Amino acid sequence: MALTDAQFRSLSAHIAELVGIHIGAEKRWLLAARVTARLAAVGETNERRYVDHVLDPAGAEELGHLVEALRVGETQFYRHASQLRAIRRVALPEIIARRERDGTRTIRVWSAGCATGEEPYTLAMMLDAALRSTSRLSFEILATDLSGPALDVARRGRYRAGATRAVPREVMKTAFVVHGDEVEVRPALRQRIRFEEKNLLDARYPRGFDLVLCRNVLIYFGRATQREVLARLSASVVPGGYLALGYTERLDAGDGELLPLRTDDGVLYRRADGATRVVVPKSEPKAELMRASGATLLRRDDTLPRRTSRPPSHPQRPDERIAREPGDRHAKDRSAEAKTATRSAGQHTAPPHLEGELTGDSGALAARAAVAPLLAGVIEPPVLSVAGLLYADREVSRILARAAAAIAAHGTPLSITGASEGVRRFLVRSHVVPPAVLTESSKS
Ligand SMILES: C[S@@+](CC[C@H](N)C(=O)[O-])C[C@H]1O[C@@H](n2cnc3c(N)ncnc32)[C@H](O)[C@@H]1O
Repeated sequence: MALTDAQFRSLSAHIAELVGIHIGAEKRWLLAARVTARLAAVGETNERRYVDHVLDPAGAEELGHLVEALRVGETQFYRHASQLRAIRRVALPEIIARRERDGTRTIRVWSAGCATGEEPYTLAMMLDAALRSTSRLSFEILATDLSGPALDVARRGRYRAGATRAVPREVMKTAFVVHGDEVEVRPALRQRIRFEEKNLLDARYPRGFDLVLCRNVLIYFGRATQREVLARLSASVVPGGYLALGYTERLDAGDGELLPLRTDDGVLYRRADGATRVVVPKSEPKAELMRASGATLLRRDDTLPRRTSRPPSHPQRPDERIAREPGDRHAKDRSAEAKTATRSAGQHTAPPHLEGELTGDSGALAARAAVAPLLAGVIEPPVLSVAGLLYADREVSRILARAAAAIAAHGTPLSITGASEGVRRFLVRSHVVPPAVLTESSKS
């Protein structure tokens, strides 16, 4: 359905006020698509009646379903591997040393916006490994989310086996019990986590955490709300404690009392304790190798292949230069995916294409896989089809913008075909076009 201007305005304002999710004009289509899906789900044929119902206090339950449908709750075990490395190498040793010094036996962690639980379980696995050599300390994790259904999944702790593909092998053995094609987080880890429903728009936050993760949640909020949430999150961190945000999220000066701590694996925010001088350890040897290869301009997870002047007999593989840790199966998966994309693009004349809703890690993977053969010079002239692309997040836009710039720098600009009007605007706004060019008349 196409929402009328008035319906869009009142629905988006209502949702922003109640749950803080801001639906800008560029996501009007998304709201309309979700309303259409809900109409079908509840068997309602009259759109106006449905919209009036969810705007009415009596329609609170249905509004909850609509918000649930809008919520992009994507998450993964060991998501944002490089940031987790920063936590493991920089934050945890300092937190552990402080707790050993001051005699507090419990390390407290909050995963705010934990979705279906993969993030707090990942933290539990990391803390379990980090504390294995000290019997004096233990940890507890508070994991909160707005979504009751997501928390139900989290509490159950059971996932498709495929969801664990980024989990290091040695952790797999100790953290999960396998049940056919499902895995279950072991009870010993599950009982370290308390799951609670919490709206981050509420003014009262729990306090006293050594580490707070609030990743990929602020993206839902407008800037003013982000600032309020960041100030409250900062106040939840103890002196010497840390806050980690999503890759596209940041804490500006004035958003809270934490200071950015730049590590080779990304930025963490730390509350000064007036005593400790934090020493950021040097990069691990493999990261040094990556720097020597000139890849530091890109974040490790974003490393893109170089385009060669002509189709090479052995196209350079994009992920070969990515520093890997033992057991980083995710990196291998990325490499395999890019190789597959490169091979298949070389064998077929159809250009690589992007379609559907591309968000989060899976969206970024799809975008990298699509641009890999173009950057490797296997497709000449370079063409990317976006027919069927419905939505892409900022991470995807960055990958596309970098690829478009690299391809244009080489001579022939990337041609993008099949862009709808909305996608055309997105590509221009994200600086993908130009340098890339649109080669089909835009369709609405
Ligand atoms: C993309 S998931 C992020 C999950 C996890 N932090 C990660 O990075 O993998 C975003 C989560 O934020 C939650 N969320 C959105 N608005 C929220 C709010 N106002 N209060 C609490 N959680 C919220 C959503 O329900 C969703 O589960």
